[in-house]
Amino acid sequence: MALKDLLTNPEMHFVLFGGKGGVGKTSSAACSALWVAEHTSKTILIVSTDPAHSLGDSLGLALEPGVVTPVPGVERLSALEISPQKAFKEAQEKMGSNPAGLDMEGMQIPLLGDLGDLAGMSPPGADEAMAFGTVLEYLENSEYDLVIFDTAPTGHTLRLLSLPEILSSWIGKLISLRLKLGKLMGAFKGIFKRGKGKDDVDPMDSIQHLKDSIEAAKDELQDPAKTSFVIVMIPEDMAIYETERLLSALISYEIPAHHIIVNQIFPENVDCNFCKSRRDFQLKHLVEIEDLYKGEFDVVKVPLFEKEIRKYDQLRRMARYVVEGEGQ
Ligand SMILES: Nc1ncnc2c1ncn2[C@@H]1O[C@H](COP(=O)(O)OP(=O)(O)O)[C@@H](O)[C@H]1O
Ligand SMILES: [Mg+2]
Repeated sequence: MALKDLLTNPEMHFVLFGGKGGVGKTSSAACSALWVAEHTSKTILIVSTDPAHSLGDSLGLALEPGVVTPVPGVERLSALEISPQKAFKEAQEKMGSNPAGLDMEGMQIPLLGDLGDLAGMSPPGADEAMAFGTVLEYLENSEYDLVIFDTAPTGHTLRLLSLPEILSSWIGKLISLRLKLGKLMGAFKGIFKRGKGKDDVDPMDSIQHLKDSIEAAKDELQDPAKTSFVIVMIPEDMAIYETERLLSALISYEIPAHHIIVNQIFPENVDCNFCKSRRDFQLKHLVEIEDLYKGEFDVVKVPLFEKEIRKYDQLRRMARYVVEGEGQ
């Protein structure tokens, strides 16, 4: 299925663009989002999860971190650069100082074993957890027909994608710990017969709810009808190695991926020895890439343009190759 078919498929809800730094993830994601807005009636949100945001620069507009902004002159397209710091502040304000409702004072000793266990499962970095929290919000938000993610370079994105697993087992641990604490409290209450009816609303319910939505997000991300990860690369050894690592991680997280964009291919008929020699070595790698992936993936080739890809006209030009399949 060509990228055009993927992007126009009414079922398709999340398309993520990922790969090595500088290969063209943002340009590919932005030109695809613009294309969908201008060629279909879908309502689209493009979200950058890269802490080094460049989505605003690519679209030629100023994006305030954490604020969904309509893309001027393009109907039904909005853009967002997520801000872990802002999300973190909001979460702190929302939850107060004791988010899990755990009252640990004087209770540690009988639970040391569990606490040790919990500590052994290192909690996710606040940065990635917050980024994931925002992603979760947009996975659940049905306001948009399509959400396109412009992701960070491979390592960061892989940590982000591993979070559903880590978080849900971490929260699971927290819940079982709280259940044990609850029993202990019950025992105390049984002895002293006090405090009845005080904690009818269990703050753990909201943690359970979080766990449920993380698991629902995991299901959505693994559903080939709804989600697709598009790998962006350039025809060079380093990018091939990184693509291999990315692919094996996607397979292990069971995230569907069927498209590879090979970007920045030197054009034919250039009157320059340096360019010819670059093109020759790129073509060798291109053969290798096609041998490796063509059976299983839709491999899309995109030329290196004489200008950087910025603003609508350049993005439209890139979309002809990325989305519509020109030059294939
Ligand atoms: N096919 C291309 N031709 C010319 N310039 C390109 C092409 N693809 C990307 N660029 C430029 O390369 C730089 C990196 O692209 P970008 O999309 O920001 O990569 P990433 O998001 O992977 O870091 C940008 O300046 C972009 O305009
Ligand atoms: Mg980028």
